[in-house]
Formats: sequence, C-alpha cells, structure tokens
Amino acid sequence: MKFKILLTPILLSASLFAADQNATTSTTAKQEGIEYIKMLGGTLKSQLQTHMKADPSGMGALGFCTAKATEITQEVNKKLPGYALVRRASLKNRNEKNIADTIDTQIMQTYEKEIADKTFVPTNDIKIIQDGDTTRVYKPLITEAACLKCHGKDLSDEIKKSLAINYPKDQAVDYTEGSLRGVIVAEIKKH
Ligand code: HEC
Repeated sequence: MKFKILLTPILLSASLFAADQNATTSTTAKQEGIEYIKMLGGTLKSQLQTHMKADPSGMGALGFCTAKATEITQEVNKKLPGYALVRRASLKNRNEKNIADTIDTQIMQTYEKEIADKTFVPTNDIKIIQDGDTTRVYKPLITEAACLKCHGKDLSDEIKKSLAINYPKDQAVDYTEGSLRGVIVAEIKKH
C-alpha cells in the first residue's frame, strides 16, 4: 500500500514533465521566432519612418528601401543562431528576393481569407507551422496609410519612375489600407 502511494505521484510528475517539455519546445520556438521577426520588422519600420519624416515625398525612404532592405535582412540574419533565419515574403512582391514559397502562399491566402471574412484578429495574428524539422513562425504585415505612397493606387510620378527603373517586374502596388501586404517569417530548425 505504501508502495502504491509513493508510486502514483512519481508517475504523475513524470508524465507532467513530458507534457511540459513538449509545450516548452513549441513555446520556445514561437517566442524565439517572434523575437527575430521583431528584430527585422522593427529595424525596417523605424528606418522607414525616419526617412519618411525627413522627406515626406517618400523619395528618400524609397531610396533607403531600394538600397538597404536586403542588406538589413542579411545583417539581422548574421546575428541569429545558425539554426534560425528570418525573411519577408509577399504574394505580390516587389523585390524578387521576397517571392513566396508554397507554405508562405498557403499562410498568406489564409490571412487574406480571414481579412475578407472579418475574422482576422490583429492581437492574435501569429501563425505557427511545423515543416519537418523546422518550425515556421508567421507575422502578417497589414497595409497602413503610410505604406500607400509606395504600395498604393495613387503613386507620385517620381516614385513610379524610380520603381519602374529599379523594379521592372514590380507587383507590389494597388494596395488599400487594411489589406495583407506580406509576411515576415522566422524559420527555426530543431537543434
Ligand atoms: C518609400 C517607399 C515605401 C514605403 C512607404 C513602404 N514600402 Fe514596402 N517596399 C518598398 C520597396 C522599394 C521595397 C522593395 C525593397 C525591399 O524592401 O526589399 C518594398 C518591399 C516591401 C516588402 C517585401 C515584399 C516585397 O514586395 O518585396 C514588404 C512586406 C513591404 N514592403 C511592406 C511595406 C509596409 C507594410 C509598408 C508600410 C508600413 C511599406 N512597405 C511602406 C518601398 C516602400
């Protein structure tokens, strides 16, 4: 009898521990992913805002995005552990480095459907996908008024001209406020 009483709590705590460990693994990947998404998204957005303030025409900011976005993405990735990467993707990309793969496409179509159905919840917008050994963490980028100068329907002639020169295959225009512009995705390999 004494033996049984002793054994039960031990078994119980063992199984709780196992459940806990699983929960910790996925929570950690999610938290880690969100942290890396913030590193890239935060850097790009704050720099964009600084340039937009300094030159409201948007030309300074456009020059910045054109020249620096890829470089900043590489710099952020250099700071991450070897098992992680962070990048941007869009269904209508401007920079060809940001072409969506199959999983990105599925996730973005889901976000677009949620936005259309009005079930999208901005405070609960992270999606997690397990792709083999890799956990993918997705954060949607929703178009705001400030984005429309370079991604909207009504671009200034100078912005149009610069885009035509630098991005002859640009698809990232004609957006309206509140639509899905793209995603930032962090990929965390099992390690
Ligand atoms: C001053 C012009 C400008 C503004 C304003 C601007 N962008 Fe962009 N955006 C660009 C350029 C140029 C690129 C291509 C270079 C790059 O970032 O890779 C780009 C690329 C992107 C990409 C990567 C996908 C792709 O199409 O290549 C995303 C996502 C994006 N922008 C989102 C936004 C969001 C969200 C806002 C508003 C908060 C915004 N942009 C505001 C100029 C702008």
